[in-house]
Amino acid sequence: MTADPDPTAAPPDTPDPAAPNRLWGGRFTGGPSEIMERINASIGFDRRLAGEDIAASKAHAAMLVRQGILTPADGQQIAEGLDRIAGEIAAGSFVFKAALEDIHMNIEARLAELIGPAAGRLHTARSRNDQVATDFRLWVRGALDRLDADLRAWQEALIDRAEAHADLVMPGFTHLQPAQPVTFGHHLLAYVEMAGRDRDRVRAARARLDECPLGAAALAGTSFAIDRDWTAAALGFARPTANSIDSVSDRDFALDYLATATIAATHLSRLAEELVLWSAPAFGFVRLSDAFATGSSIMPQKRNPDAAELVRARVGRVAGALVALVTVLKGLPLAYAKDLQDDKEPVFAVHDDLALCLAAITGMVRDLTPVPAAMRAAAAGGYSTATDLADWLVRVLGMPFREAHAVTGRIVRLAEASGVDLADLPLAAMQEIEPRIDTGVFSVLSVEASVASRTSYGGTAPAQVRAAAAAARARHLGALPPVDRVG
Ligand code: ARG
Repeated sequence: MTADPDPTAAPPDTPDPAAPNRLWGGRFTGGPSEIMERINASIGFDRRLAGEDIAASKAHAAMLVRQGILTPADGQQIAEGLDRIAGEIAAGSFVFKAALEDIHMNIEARLAELIGPAAGRLHTARSRNDQVATDFRLWVRGALDRLDADLRAWQEALIDRAEAHADLVMPGFTHLQPAQPVTFGHHLLAYVEMAGRDRDRVRAARARLDECPLGAAALAGTSFAIDRDWTAAALGFARPTANSIDSVSDRDFALDYLATATIAATHLSRLAEELVLWSAPAFGFVRLSDAFATGSSIMPQKRNPDAAELVRARVGRVAGALVALVTVLKGLPLAYAKDLQDDKEPVFAVHDDLALCLAAITGMVRDLTPVPAAMRAAAAGGYSTATDLADWLVRVLGMPFREAHAVTGRIVRLAEASGVDLADLPLAAMQEIEPRIDTGVFSVLSVEASVASRTSYGGTAPAQVRAAAAAARARHLGALPPVDRVG
């Protein structure tokens, strides 16, 4: 992404302050102050809407010709001029001018230079208010599609690793205390579900966005016989928006995008935090690749998880953008006010941040190397199969679970006092607490037996994890149909 110029910097083309603006100069005798121009200009960021602005203008002009509002000759000149401008922008030769305020006026002014008076007919039956609402919707639509593709790529990396590590035992935590053994594959699939819900939100946001505001004009509609269904279809929208006032004042589609992005960024941040923990020597569960670790300038032994830390942090900027736009919109009277110009920067910034975070997290997931011995040792520690022992007392001895819980607690205390894991406690020691316990109990005390027993749907048994990964592949990646459920 190329950096946009600082929009607060003094424009290079500071015009004669005495000259009124050529697009509305009729009502004015003087030009804006330099400060007015700086606070008003959005070209520093809304130039990112250039492609959408040209597409919307071409659709509008073609519709005006179809409706007999514009002559075919003027329509053709406008279309050719707009294509030329698109070429200039792509080639980097287009000169963006702060004096021309925003992308809409920059393009229209250049069109006038290229084709003369016909350019002035393009703005018939439209306003910058419906124009910017249309451009921005088109842009957010593209951003939603890119977000969906990035989330899908993250899911694919997670599913690939989950399949590879369906059997790899690690501690499952609650309160960050060892709780019950799970498999690494199972843990990774939890994030596939989160990303799946994110993609649902993307789809829902896209469906709600799918209406075209073009033709609402300033706020009241137009007296020209325009065909809004045609422009909506030409721009790939399902239908035109139903109310002209709402059309120019609504930015829910941007809020939907930012809210969706905030929740997705929250998910990324949770995995990032786990990568920070897991890669810390105190855990030692995974090794990040050289590509996603950094060294220290003073401590030669260090491999720092900077990328994960930055992903963890960046949710602050994303959520901040959501709050920024909510605050712009709150209490804003209908229909358009210039406050709405401040809708774009938060969205653009979130788009760039989130794309980078998703690329980083996907890269880290693909590259990381698990350390099975460390994971297994941690899984076996902390008496993590105590629940399996309690379940055995219920299943084999017919004990009520509450009593089994108490008996197991006493056995754990004994193991702790003897400094051994549950699986290493002699049978006789257990029998001192509950005489009916027999050697059969040892079949449930290993971490492998523990995870293998959790065959309930959605559980961590390796067979279940493999089935869940295949089902996720089908559901989220459109791959082959899932194999049958296990358990
Ligand atoms: N640059 C403006 C924006 O982003 C375009 C719309 C201007 N409309 C107006 N009535 N001044 O909102």
